[in-house]
Amino acid sequence: MSAAAAFRRDPISYLRTEFRRQGGVFTLPDAVLCVADPAIAQEVLRDPEHHYGELSGFFQTSFGNLGPRTVQSTIGKQARQLLRPQIAEPATVRKALAPLGGEAAGWPTAGPVLAYEFFRQALLSEASPLHLHEVLRSMVTDGMVMLTGPIPVRLRRSFLRQRMLRLVEREIRRRQSGARIDSVDLLDLLIQAAPEACAEAIAEIYLLLFRSVTSAVGFTLGWALWLAGRWERITDLPPAWVVKESQRLFPTAWMFSRTGAREHTLGTRRVGVGDRVRVCPYLIHRHPQCWDEPDMFRPERWSGAPHYAFMPFGSGPFACTGASLVQAFAEAALHVFTEDLRFSVVRSGERPLVSALLVPPRFWLRLDPA
Ligand code: HEM
Repeated sequence: MSAAAAFRRDPISYLRTEFRRQGGVFTLPDAVLCVADPAIAQEVLRDPEHHYGELSGFFQTSFGNLGPRTVQSTIGKQARQLLRPQIAEPATVRKALAPLGGEAAGWPTAGPVLAYEFFRQALLSEASPLHLHEVLRSMVTDGMVMLTGPIPVRLRRSFLRQRMLRLVEREIRRRQSGARIDSVDLLDLLIQAAPEACAEAIAEIYLLLFRSVTSAVGFTLGWALWLAGRWERITDLPPAWVVKESQRLFPTAWMFSRTGAREHTLGTRRVGVGDRVRVCPYLIHRHPQCWDEPDMFRPERWSGAPHYAFMPFGSGPFACTGASLVQAFAEAALHVFTEDLRFSVVRSGERPLVSALLVPPRFWLRLDPA
């Protein structure tokens, strides 16, 4: 089998083998450099000499980079502020979790659904058109869990994505021409922060943020429950340790990239203008020189100081602005699970589903009152 086919078939096994064979920086089948060495990853992400440019790749759209940088930073900060108040109340977390009670619930889809219900008001105001609400909900239940699968399934997802983008663009234009909504939502925030941007570019960034808030957050919680639900001593431990340890073993953002803007070297490798470099938190988080028993679930390891080889949200100037929010949400949800309920994982797959995100295998949770 060719290297490209082996990577496509099982990216995680491929990466682990190449890391063992070649070390901290190696070339992927598509000729892109993969960085698994934490010090070199920090050099790439902090990028003090601007080898990779001065704008965030997160805001790259088909219509150019939504910028300038001040606009990007404002969007990140305001999005976090908009979403954060939802978490403060444990009662809100309980309410969002309530529909999952009793019967075993199907994951990983339950994660994004739960996150969507939780942040719904902030994502899209109630006063927005009903069909837009409906398509967002379909994206969560049907459109995002896996980007792989049989061709009809992929076609349906691609169709859903296009439909969502068109409806969001229409809503942006409606609001730009003066339509009022009842309370500020994520879409409003983008329209106000980037008045120069076209509706199509704003819609793409909205979709990306929507996915971060629903899929990435939901899968992060899914991983924590999948690991914790098979572990007997779970109620004795602070949820913060469990969440961190599950992000270490299964970072939902398992690989993210940079594009060279100036020639430079990384370790012994040359990076030219336009060359892609991928940082791989999955391998960094299991680096045998940085972690004891790297493949073991050991939440106690988080009793100490933060770890330099831990980067589930990136690092440096473009690190995720939602990191503290995600952590708070996952901890609050896990706290409710461990305090109010007894939960265990029943009927589970063993292998992650690998797409743009690292998705937990299919599993069911048995939930009983404590
Ligand atoms: C588990 C959930 C999430 C994960 C794993 C995640 C991961 C990441 C990562 C790895 C980056 C950096 C990408 C890079 O360096 O190229 C990033 C950037 C970003 N994330 Fe998140 N994210 C999550 C949730 C969120 C949420 C809820 C928000 C909403 C506030 C958010 C907003 C952003 C923004 C605005 C950026 C770009 C930051 C900048 O360049 O200034 N993310 N995210």
